[in-house]
Amino acid sequence: MNYRHAFHAGNHADVLKHLTLTRLIALLSRKEAPFAYLDSHAGIGLYDLAGDAASRTGEWLAGIERLWQAERLPPAVAEYRAVVAALNPDGALRYYPGSPELARRLSREQDHLYLNEKHPEDGRLLKENMAGDRRVAVHLGEGWHLPRALLPTREKRALLLIDPPFEQADELQRCVTALDEAVGRMRQAVVAIWYPIKEERQLKRFYQALERSAAPKLLRAELLVHPADDPGRLAGSGLAIANPPWGLEEDLRELLPWLAEHLAQSQGGWRLDWLVPD
Ligand SMILES: C[S@@+](CC[C@H](N)C(=O)[O-])C[C@H]1O[C@@H](n2cnc3c(N)ncnc32)[C@H](O)[C@@H]1O
Repeated sequence: MNYRHAFHAGNHADVLKHLTLTRLIALLSRKEAPFAYLDSHAGIGLYDLAGDAASRTGEWLAGIERLWQAERLPPAVAEYRAVVAALNPDGALRYYPGSPELARRLSREQDHLYLNEKHPEDGRLLKENMAGDRRVAVHLGEGWHLPRALLPTREKRALLLIDPPFEQADELQRCVTALDEAVGRMRQAVVAIWYPIKEERQLKRFYQALERSAAPKLLRAELLVHPADDPGRLAGSGLAIANPPWGLEEDLRELLPWLAEHLAQSQGGWRLDWLVPD
């Protein structure tokens, strides 16, 4: 396990993932009934952009920093920006929320969070960062076991984020297996899989596997910051979202062109469509 998210925190891929996560939570929060948030590969929860790891790559400068400096933001960015602003009250961007911190700050008294991180040091930091919030349970185990271990949840609604490091060749396939296990155990669960756009051939197989998956419906949202046909480099990233709440497609249709314009490096692009139609 070499991957440490601290090197990449706040980059274009995080912006897409986290902005979508904030919309998912906002849309789930329209109903009073509680929901469970599950994060199989949670990271440490909170990142210091002035720290050694983030400073070495500077990836956040072409990600959250651009959004932070942007003048007119689409309304759907409001909750995401508000969390970042709350972490940086003096206006200088330094602290960046990972998926656990975003979920913790946006969820309500009645909701519960189940966070899992396998790396022992990152797991320890995650526990430290989440300490004192009785709604949060942190597990230091195998993320791929989460759907079988925790679903169905006591709460009738669940949102599962699957965000592995993609260090191993089989991780795209493992995401599809985890999705099948999740909706097999809790058919209405919202499942969001983040994936990198790097290798076209591998991605084609991934899309085909998603189309054959057990997801009742599946939305695909992608953001490119470079042309997709440049092999080996991270051209962008995507989210495959099973059972997206009503309103998400519309939000993403507003957000993706804006993100493509503001986060483009050599060339921006986006796509939004249904892999498994409603
Ligand atoms: C992309 S990062 C997660 C970032 C986080 N979800 C966020 O958005 O802030 C992936 C994380 O998965 C952890 N990890 C790697 N293999 C794992 C496994 N098999 N089970 C659980 N966690 C794992 C890594 O240590 C890393 O912290």
